[in-house]
Amino acid sequence: VASKFKAPRGTFDVLPSDSAARARVYEAAAGAFERAGYGRIETPIFEETELFARGVGESTDIVQKEMFTFEDQGGRSLTLRPEATAALCRAYAEHGMHKLPQPVKLWCWGPFFRHERPQSGRFRQFHQIDSEVIGTDSPLADAEAIILLADLLAELGVPGVELRLGSLGSFETRVAYRDELRSHLHANEGSLSDDVRSRIDSNPLRAFDSDHPGTREVMEGAPTMLDRLDDDDADHFEAVKAAVSDAGVDYVLDGTLVRGLDYYTRTVFEFTSDALGAQSALGGGGRYDGLVAELGGPETPAVGWAAGIERILMALGEAEEEQSLDAFIVAPDGQREMALSLATQARRAGVCVDLDLAGRSEKGQMKQANRSGAARAVILADDGTARLRDMETGEERPLDTDDVLREIEAERRKAGS
Ligand code: HAM
Repeated sequence: VASKFKAPRGTFDVLPSDSAARARVYEAAAGAFERAGYGRIETPIFEETELFARGVGESTDIVQKEMFTFEDQGGRSLTLRPEATAALCRAYAEHGMHKLPQPVKLWCWGPFFRHERPQSGRFRQFHQIDSEVIGTDSPLADAEAIILLADLLAELGVPGVELRLGSLGSFETRVAYRDELRSHLHANEGSLSDDVRSRIDSNPLRAFDSDHPGTREVMEGAPTMLDRLDDDDADHFEAVKAAVSDAGVDYVLDGTLVRGLDYYTRTVFEFTSDALGAQSALGGGGRYDGLVAELGGPETPAVGWAAGIERILMALGEAEEEQSLDAFIVAPDGQREMALSLATQARRAGVCVDLDLAGRSEKGQMKQANRSGAARAVILADDGTARLRDMETGEERPLDTDDVLREIEAERRKAGS
């Protein structure tokens, strides 16, 4: 019978067959953060709407079109988190983390929500690994963050990775640059898309992100922020680039990289993979020196990034499901309780064992043993004896039932699995 319900548009189930690959990404990230002195933080799935409106920026697509916003029973406006940075800065200020030794390095992992038009690599519920270094303006912090993500993608074996690196300068220099860009856009208004034209005044930088052919042509002749950095910002950017290069991480300079969130100052970066289609961004981030104060905390410089788990998994392609069972126990009807008792002992001793719980015939159980990918089967007989079968070679040998556990462990060690 076909199910009446489907997962909502833009969402998906993570099935058991998908979870090993996901766990590998999570474990690699957890290891990388631990080695670099980050603490793991968890924040709520929803926050006050105002946090994201102020944090991410009123004129961004995220805030204007993509937030899942609802009213709770008390009439408060809440929003399913579209990203982590604003929430982590909220937590930093709320818990007085500015009193801790700086910087505070935080990371998290979990679901995020954006009401975007679903397509390959773009979901309404997706997962990010997010990392933030809050409380330093050192260019080495930017470099450390970038190197960490580069190394994580390399460790995971993500193919075709490219790093694009730019700088947006400080808010002050950007004000002057924005005016210059506005003049350029107004002078070419006729060639722009409606969307870009309607945002010349509120968010001219987003014109760099447009796919519209007329707009793209206009933007090719536009000045970029990289040409307009003041001396301090230029020095900061030079130091970031030098430290990234020193670590052997290649990058492409990109003066058109603006990112879809308003809080960035100075460094911005994005990692893409040519193994992905139109949605090629694996992850990105940058410096956001004004955000903590914007949210009511103390003046606090910070830098961070987020990477999309689904994008990483897509770029990696179908992973071979690793076989993980040490043994499958096959038993005739009279030995089923014995089978469960052996399985329980084995599991308590840390051995991975499964057995039939659906009343299959012995032949059916052998098939199931095969399908399970177990390295070996323990085959119990009516007379209380047992055989150990190597599932690959089909070789069998007698097994002392009092000693099954030790035998499986010994076999496992021999196989080095
Ligand atoms: P973002 O570029 O909006 O940055 O998202 C980071 C990554 O999340 C993207 O590169 C992409 O891999 C993934 N992603 C975003 N939207 C979707 C979607 N609809 N479906 C699937 N994957 C998606 C941020 O969120 C910033 N908070 C990053 C940051 C942290 N900046 C500073 N600190």
